[in-house]
Parts: sequence; C-alpha cells; structure tokens
Amino acid sequence: MKQVDVAVKAEILNGLKKKQARLAPKFFYDQKGSALFTQITSLSEYYPTRTELEIMNENSPAILSAVGACSTVIEPGAGGCEKAERLCRLLQVRRFVGVDISADYLTAGVNRMKSVLPGTEVRAIPGDITKRITLPKDIPRDRRLIFYPGSSIGNFDPEQAVRLLTRMRSHLDAEGSLLIGVDLIKSTQVLEAAYNDQLGVTAAFNLNILNHVNSLIGANFNLDDWRHVAWFNASKARIEMHLEARGPTRVSWPGGKRFFSVGERIHTENSYKYTPESFSELLKRAGFDEQTPWTDQKSWYTMVLARQGSVSRRVAS
Ligand code: AVI
Repeated sequence: MKQVDVAVKAEILNGLKKKQARLAPKFFYDQKGSALFTQITSLSEYYPTRTELEIMNENSPAILSAVGACSTVIEPGAGGCEKAERLCRLLQVRRFVGVDISADYLTAGVNRMKSVLPGTEVRAIPGDITKRITLPKDIPRDRRLIFYPGSSIGNFDPEQAVRLLTRMRSHLDAEGSLLIGVDLIKSTQVLEAAYNDQLGVTAAFNLNILNHVNSLIGANFNLDDWRHVAWFNASKARIEMHLEARGPTRVSWPGGKRFFSVGERIHTENSYKYTPESFSELLKRAGFDEQTPWTDQKSWYTMVLARQGSVSRRVAS
C-alpha cells in the first residue's frame, strides 16, 4: 500500500460506506488512469476533445484578440499540458503554471513544455484543485488567464462548480480572465456513445479506479467482479458513470469491509452537460458577468472567455 494522506483515505472510506457507494472522479487519475483518459480523448465516439480543438483552431484570431495582453496562463488540472502548449504558443505568453493532482503526469507535461517553449517560464504545482490552492507569491497577479478546457467543470455538480469558479475568480485581478470549455446538451444517443465506446476504453478507465483505490487504502477489489455502466440522466442533465457488481461481492480493507449484492453500484462520475444559457447563468453566479462564447457548427460544445465585468469589479473594489 502507498504512503497516503489520512484525509484521502478518510474520503475514500466515507464514500465506500455510504448507502449509495461513491468514489470521487479525481481517483481515476493514477498513471494508468491518466493514460487511459488520453486514449479516450482520441476515440471516435468521444467528440468533446476534437470539437474543442476545432473551436480553438477556427477562432484563434478572435480568441487572441479577446484575451488581449496576458502575463501568465494558469491551468488547473493541467494533466499532460497538451492543450496549454497550443494556447501558450498562440498567446506567446511569458509564464505558464500547471496545477494537477497527478504529479508524475504533470511533471512529464511540464518538462515537455519547457523543451518546446524555451521562451516561456514553465512551473508545475502538484495540487488538488477541488481544495483551496495557494499559488506561490512570486507569480504576478496582474493579467492572468485561467485556462480550464476539456469540460472538466462538468465533473462537478452545479453548486460545487459555482464554488470552484468563484475560487478561480479570486486568483484574478480585474483584468484577468477565464477561458473555459464546456460540453453542451445534445442527443442522448451521441452523449451515451461517448461514454460507452466500442473498444471498451471508457470501461477500462472506469474499472481502473478500483485498482487505484486498492493501492491507496489496501482494499481487495477484483475488477472482474464489476461492470462499467454509463447513461444520460436527462432530468439532471448529466452522464452518470457507475460500477455495477456482477454478482454478490465482498470487499475488504484494513479495518473494514462491505458486501455488495448483485447489481449494486458504486457511483464514480457525473459529467454535467449545459445549454449555452444555463452555463452563462452558472458563470454569472460565480461573478463572471462579461462573457464571449464560441461554438462549433453543430453546437455540441462551447468555449467561453469570461471576465468579472464592471458589476463584480465595483463590488470587489
Ligand atoms: C475529464 N472529464 C471532462 C471527462 C468527461 O467527459 O466527463 C472524463 C471522462 N469520463 C469518461 N470519459 C471521459
């Protein structure tokens, strides 16, 4: 078993003991999980990554002019930094700060950026963006751009998302901005295919959370006992991912155990989908009143550049 923070262990155990067992999606991302996620992003069924890229490519002059002068790009959940590399190149930015819970993956991404963008100061901050993050004091506060692509905001429920976005805004001055990607509501068939790919990569990604949990708390989950399930819950506007027990299953860990009956599920992820209006409302609730959205031809996905706007600037000053 790994040396693991007591709070992390407690968070996992609390989730496993709940009547409806839960594991937070951040536990997908050990080294194998991060690699599987990278594979997901190039699957034909998983449209968000390529659609976001298409929006960025087709609107790069407009994005560049809307962002304006920017001193530092900060990416929470930067992972392998592939998207940040493209953005930093476009903006010719002086400094990039990547923050991620998976320190190994982040370090690899940051090292690659250092070699391909020698003119940019590149920093890595290992950290859990779902918690408060303190940035080093020598990172200038003026004209920051927080880059939050990939529709990761969809993995938080709307109340948590407002809190996270509000926290992001607290790292910005009045001229700072947020460039964020979000997945839009579309046909159930397209949405569900994206989370149930033919090759089974999403299933492997979902199941791998159990391997990670085994190594974090010393549990004995057997992956063969579980099946991946994902569907669109239209009333909540979210894809839900679960792991379902294939038969009666006993799982134990040092100091505890749980019995799962056949069909019982562990809820591993929600991926909320928005309309342009509902996402605009969410940004406003977090104090981002000024918004410039871009979308693709099918309106499947949107990128929004958001600033505090004059109302929030007046309240803050
Ligand atoms: C990281 N996040 C935005 C992905 C999503 O689509 O919610 C995670 C994912 N889960 C299954 N496939 C991809």
